[in-house]
Amino acid sequence: EPMSWDILITNIKGLVQAREPGTEVVAGDAMATLPILPHAYLAIKDGVIADYGNMDTLLVHHAQHTLDASGRFVFPSFVDSHTHLVFAAPREEEFVMKIKGASYADIAAKGGGILNSARKLQQMSEDELFERTYKRAGEIMATGTGAVEIKSGYGLTVKDELKMLRVARRIGRETPLTVKTTFLGAHAIPKEYTHEDYVSLVIREMIPAVAEEKLADYIDVFCEQGFFTMDETEMIVEAGKRVGMRPRIHANQLHRSGGVQVGVKTRAISVDHLENIGDEEITLLQNSGVMPTALPGAAFFLNLPFPPARAMLQAGLPLAIASDYNPGSAPSGNMPLMIALACIRMKLTPEEAINAATINTAAALELQQTHGSITRGKVANVFISKPVPSVAHLPYAFGSPFVDQVILQGKMVTA
Ligand code: NIG
Ligand code: FE
Repeated sequence: EPMSWDILITNIKGLVQAREPGTEVVAGDAMATLPILPHAYLAIKDGVIADYGNMDTLLVHHAQHTLDASGRFVFPSFVDSHTHLVFAAPREEEFVMKIKGASYADIAAKGGGILNSARKLQQMSEDELFERTYKRAGEIMATGTGAVEIKSGYGLTVKDELKMLRVARRIGRETPLTVKTTFLGAHAIPKEYTHEDYVSLVIREMIPAVAEEKLADYIDVFCEQGFFTMDETEMIVEAGKRVGMRPRIHANQLHRSGGVQVGVKTRAISVDHLENIGDEEITLLQNSGVMPTALPGAAFFLNLPFPPARAMLQAGLPLAIASDYNPGSAPSGNMPLMIALACIRMKLTPEEAINAATINTAAALELQQTHGSITRGKVANVFISKPVPSVAHLPYAFGSPFVDQVILQGKMVTA
């Protein structure tokens, strides 16, 4: 009886991140190893990875579609574990202000930044917001992303935070992307509130309303000078935990804000940004179970120092890389570009950076059973690369198109 598959990819130059079940996170020295199976085939059936192996072991089979990947690599789709994909409009005017010398904090203090995005989003209908977000979803699928975390945080009122999260959930239903959602009501403090009153609105009204509609998997807070303090962050994430939202925290972006300390204390699933951490934070993260996540697009766009990735790996930590796609600090969801920035500016090797953007981000979204590697039984989220000489060509040829054919949930995605 010949095997019967939906899609068979043959003559693959290298099948990247092919792993037997069991590996859920890679940390420290192990991040330098990226399994690549040469001269391989990959078989897909019913939306999952059915089989893979060396071409010489491919038995008699039947496949509905056969794709020849000669000269090309096949990757597991990227998992982008930190985005603000739902927003109303870009902020090019602030970009130009920054070129002329204004800082992110200067712009925020003048009512720009997150509050600027909030005003625009509050005025937009849910359907229009969905259409704009849907376009961005298409854009990130085309650059190899298969699963994505999407945050609220540009609503800043009960109804607008709910509107954002409904749009994010709808992206999960109406595209082949796997979507996890995060409530980030504590992203900035609207001008008409005191800190205390806004924190109380988040805890007493927003969290219960979000929980009631089951709109968020996670809770996040922007723990930063001028935004939310360590104590406020802790109170808010504890309130989220009580209704089943695990914390992930915007930590140590602009200052040594204590975000890592709160993240470890509250058993966050991840602490993200980390541009401003030292040995103390690295030590705290050891054996904490919290995934340190670098957002190289935001560090690059804001001209910040990059997280001390090498020191983190030397301390045995795992590292994840996500895009932070948002209109203020990282207007790109291009994961190959994030990998290139990680290699060029944080001195990760291509193998380390690819591990960081696949298997480790899958773990950061609790998708390690189904995403992040080429493993039998996992969701068939893969892409075929352009013809390239090596995997290192991805970060080397930074900004050049790398992804050719995308397959999500076992189906070919056309741009
Ligand atoms: O992750 N740091 C806070 N939030 C975003 C930026 C949001 C914005 O500027 O619109 C970030 O960088
Ligand atoms: Fe962010």
